[in-house]
Amino acid sequence: MANTTIELMHEHGSVRSYKSDPVPREMIETIVAAGQRASTSFNFQMYSVIATMDDEKRTQFMALCGGQKHIGQAPVFLTWCADLSRLARVSDVQGYTHEAGYMENLLLAVVDVSLIMQNAALSAESLGLGFCYIGAIRNSPQEVIDLLALPELVFPICGMTLGWPENPPRIRPRLPLEAVLHWEAYDINDRESLEAYDREMIATGIYRGRQVSAGKDKPETRYGWMEHSARRASKVLRPHLREALLNAGFEMK
Ligand SMILES: Cc1cc2nc3c(=O)[nH]c(=O)nc-3n(C[C@H](O)[C@H](O)[C@H](O)COP(=O)(O)O)c2cc1C
Repeated sequence: MANTTIELMHEHGSVRSYKSDPVPREMIETIVAAGQRASTSFNFQMYSVIATMDDEKRTQFMALCGGQKHIGQAPVFLTWCADLSRLARVSDVQGYTHEAGYMENLLLAVVDVSLIMQNAALSAESLGLGFCYIGAIRNSPQEVIDLLALPELVFPICGMTLGWPENPPRIRPRLPLEAVLHWEAYDINDRESLEAYDREMIATGIYRGRQVSAGKDKPETRYGWMEHSARRASKVLRPHLREALLNAGFEMK
C-alpha cells in the first residue's frame, strides 16, 4: 500500500553533501510551522529551535560536533531544543510553580522535540531539501548553550543540517519489518531476520573502510550491521550528559 506521503518517507536518506544555494527564510518558517503540527504532550509544546545561517557560527558548530564537514557546508544549521523554560515562565505569570524537576519532564520534552523535528524534516524533504540530524551537538552541550544563549531549562537535543542536496541521498535499508513489528506480544526470536539484515547491509558496501574498532582482541568476524552496532554499543556514549542536564536545570528526580 502506498501514496505520495508514504513514498516520500521511503525515499529518505541523510544528506551529507550540499549545494551552496541558500535556503530562503520563508522555507525555514514553512518547515518549522509544519513541524509544529506534530502532536505534543498536554499541548505543552516543550521545544524551541534555533536557526543558524551565519557562516562563522556554523563553523563553530562544525568544530563542536567533531569537525563534521556537512555542518560547515549546509547553509542552515538547526538546533532542536527541549524547552521547559517557556512553561516555567507561563507558570510564573499565572502564579504557580512549574514542577519541572522530574525524569518525566525531561522525557516529555525530548519526545515533543523529537516529534516536531521529524515532522519538520519530512516537510523539508517534501520541498526537495535534504537534512542530516546531528546528535554530535551533545558532545559539548555547555558550549552550545553558551553559543546560542540558551536560558535555564532549555537543552540542545539534536542538531540538523539543512540545504539543497548535491546528489540524491543513498537509501539505507532498514531492519526487516518482523524485527520491529510484533503482534500482540514481544517476540525475541529475531535472530534469523537480524542475520538477513546483516547480509543485506554488507551487500550495500556501507561498511567498507568504515569499521569501528573492536576495542579488544577479537577473532576476524563478518562485519555487518550486527558487528558494527555491537562495537558501537560497547562504547560509553557521552557520559557528561547527566551533569550537563543538571546544570541546565533538569533535575531528573
Ligand atoms: C538523533 C540522531 C542523531 C544523528 N547524529 C548524526 C551525526 O551527528 N552525524 C551524522 O552524520 N549523522 C547523524 N545521524 C544520522 C544517522 O547516522 C542516520 O539517520 C542513520 O545512519 C540512518 O541513515 P539514513 O538517515 O540515511 O537512513 C543522526 C541521526 C539521528 C536520528
